[in-house]
Amino acid sequence: MEDHDDEIDEDEEGFLEDKSEKKFNSGIDELEKTKIDYKRIKKIDQSKKRAAIESVFDERTVFHLNKILVNGPLKRIEGIISAGKEANVYLAYDLEEKEVAVKIYKIDSNTSRWMKKYIIGDPRFKKIPHNVSKIIFLWASKEFKNLKRAYKVDLRVPKPIFIKNNILIMEYIGFESIPAPVLKDIKNPKEPVSLFNEILKFIKLLYQKAKLVHGDLSEFNILYHNQSPVVIDISQAVSIQHPKAEVFLVRDIKNIFQYFNKLGVETPDPKDFYYDVINMEV
Ligand SMILES: Nc1ncnc2c1ncn2[C@@H]1O[C@H](COP(=O)(O)OP(=O)(O)OP(=O)(O)O)[C@@H](O)[C@H]1O
Ligand SMILES: [Mg+2]
Repeated sequence: MEDHDDEIDEDEEGFLEDKSEKKFNSGIDELEKTKIDYKRIKKIDQSKKRAAIESVFDERTVFHLNKILVNGPLKRIEGIISAGKEANVYLAYDLEEKEVAVKIYKIDSNTSRWMKKYIIGDPRFKKIPHNVSKIIFLWASKEFKNLKRAYKVDLRVPKPIFIKNNILIMEYIGFESIPAPVLKDIKNPKEPVSLFNEILKFIKLLYQKAKLVHGDLSEFNILYHNQSPVVIDISQAVSIQHPKAEVFLVRDIKNIFQYFNKLGVETPDPKDFYYDVINMEV
């Protein structure tokens, strides 16, 4: 993958050139003033940068988004679907005017701290970066890889399309400009028993075929589309070899059973289902 760090620093280099030019053409006073101005402007610049970094549109993200809009695969970004703590999701259109979902992760040091917990121990990620943005990029690429793995074994997740740093483009789930609702916003889903069974099948196949555990599965991360579930937000999913895979699996199962219990669905013993999932012979 290309590294565009140089291109981002261009502005700063340009500014330094201006400064040295002035240095040759001015007296001592002017030189002092230039120095102070430089420091002051640099300070303002830094705080502006920090402010931008708090939101998703830091300099580097804007740079890459522009590139994606010029060279594809995006034609235009229409509007926001969701603004969250860790990421924003946008509705956009590709070159064929087809809807796509764009998830942009925020470059945030608090987020990167807990992300590390999920990356450490996953045999797919041997080197853990220290740099905040690099951890976030790794996180986004983890979501992309997890989507690919699940999609490949025919599980109902959005099809992954493109990844660059913290920008992930995937299949859009919804009808025209109306995104599919999350399961928690559906008061009375039709045929809850078959919905429950579909989600159980998803958990089982994700484990047995894609060799992954979702790790944050609940009615908040399942879209309800065409009366069927589509599982999203798979960034924290871990390989079944991860030391915490079983703990995460138990938690996922608990969440789903609890949700359907509340809906009045008669659920089997979650323990039996757990053993059914981890038994690779089944
Ligand atoms: N492929 C998609 N198609 C349509 N809508 C989507 C898609 N992916 C995500 N969304 C919408 O965006 C919301 C947030 O997405 P997601 O759950 O992946 O992010 P998140 O990691 O939970 O973000 P945060 O934790 O910061 O809220 C979802 O609840 C859903 O409404
Ligand atoms: Mg989510």
